[in-house]
Amino acid sequence: MELTTAMLLWLLLGLSCLVVCLHRKGQQKRGCLPPGPRPLPLLGNLLQLDTKDMVKSLLKLSERYGPVYTLHLGSRRVVVLCGYQAVKEALVDQAEEFSGRGDLPVVFRFTQGNDIVLSNGEKWKVLRRFALQTLRNFGMGKRSLEQRIQQEARCLVQELAQMQAAPFDPTFLISRAVSNVICSIVFGDRFEYQDGSFLTLVSLINQNFQLLSSLWGQMYNIFPGPMSCVPGPHNRIFENFEQLRLFVLERVKMHQESFDPSCPRDFIDCFLLKMEQENQDPLSYFHTETLVMTTHNLFFAGTETVSTTLRYGFVLLMKYPEIQARVHAEIDQVIGRHRSPSAEDRSRMPYTDAVIHEVQRFGDVIPMGVPHAVTQDTHFRGFLIPEGTNVLPLLSSVHNDPTQFKDPATFDPAHFLDPSGGFRKCDAFMAFSTGKRICLGEGLARMELFLFFTSLLQRFAFTPLVRPEDIDISPLVSGLGNVPRPYEFRAVPR
Ligand code: HEM
Repeated sequence: MELTTAMLLWLLLGLSCLVVCLHRKGQQKRGCLPPGPRPLPLLGNLLQLDTKDMVKSLLKLSERYGPVYTLHLGSRRVVVLCGYQAVKEALVDQAEEFSGRGDLPVVFRFTQGNDIVLSNGEKWKVLRRFALQTLRNFGMGKRSLEQRIQQEARCLVQELAQMQAAPFDPTFLISRAVSNVICSIVFGDRFEYQDGSFLTLVSLINQNFQLLSSLWGQMYNIFPGPMSCVPGPHNRIFENFEQLRLFVLERVKMHQESFDPSCPRDFIDCFLLKMEQENQDPLSYFHTETLVMTTHNLFFAGTETVSTTLRYGFVLLMKYPEIQARVHAEIDQVIGRHRSPSAEDRSRMPYTDAVIHEVQRFGDVIPMGVPHAVTQDTHFRGFLIPEGTNVLPLLSSVHNDPTQFKDPATFDPAHFLDPSGGFRKCDAFMAFSTGKRICLGEGLARMELFLFFTSLLQRFAFTPLVRPEDIDISPLVSGLGNVPRPYEFRAVPR
């Protein structure tokens, strides 16, 4: 045998051994994962998915593989959870194991895990605890915050009244009002609706929510490496994030110049104080980058989710005018026309409360949740999910679970009403997710939704420019978020 042939044979043998070893190692790492479609190299299960309607194709796969299955998004392995029971068993019954954050490369490229949403372990715990405590100190769940929202709702009512029932697209007016609430907690200030740079900021947030949910945003999440080199609209996401970062950074600098440790004015001041207290600790999580990214989290999440929900709410009430009429009647009966709605009113307004819950269930603003990950090797329903595996709790599948809601495909406030018309609490309501990663702004968001919703409906009837039956309530894009189609309406004074 020639020397070169012998060497070639040895090389082939060596390579084969390596492949077998790697495969074995992969199998061991695979644990005993739930079943799922066979992935292709590099592509994973991309060909089985419709990236324009991920939720629908993920639900379709669960019909074949069951409520808990394994999927490959590119080379990333993900366990998908469908339906109330599976999501609850994981996120609530095994809360600690399922509390890790999974990969969201399109956002991680920007935050580098220096925020709450995408951090893990001790860093996440410390930042989350601090943010929750500080939001509470600045009024989350308290009367002072209620007054702030009431004041903002009055500004919004005034602005709408000036339209004199002329048709217009409410998107940016609503988002400026909503954003002002979180702005006053985080930056210590609200902005005038006429302020051009404020409008630019909320448009950047709005555009990014849409782009993150688009085909391009999803493709970046699946193939971050190649997509970083490809031109396309997804690159706008990073430019927009950068503009938002510069805005936050500028605000931080302004705060530093007028900082008085004995009298913190807002979230940024509290963070600066913590940075000062821990500046000798090299392991501290309180530094400028975490300050900017955590502030950015609150600003972004606090603006877009609530305003998108309100936009969904108004279009649904125009589609179903009989439901709008019942909300009007309840407002007239419980609050009347002359005083501002207050958080206390909610307990006496079961119908309106049910409508808001149903808007959140049906609108499904974050349909796939935000990816989780298991923090350790985890036994779940007879499977073994290896530490670090991503988990997708399909919140949409919970909201459309026929074992939990009588007629999930229909917008019907009765889903949250008992037979005597009282409000019916429902464990399968998971718009804010559940478990240890549950939305940090839930208390604030609930209060905002109730007060904005009732304040506007107290003063206006919302009427569409087309016949109710012609209103399309399907989302414009569906991905990370469900984005409602743009529409115009008339706010007719009552
Ligand atoms: C209707 C409004 C809102 C909805 C539907 C919503 C929904 C969600 C969802 C589904 C998650 C993911 C939870 C998980 O990983 O399981 C989340 C996380 C989060 N939300 Fe919200 N949210 C809303 C409002 C807000 C507001 C007003 C704020 C800010 C004050 C906020 C801040 C956050 C933060 C910081 C996280 C990350 C929590 C963590 O990873 O520990 N959200 N939200």
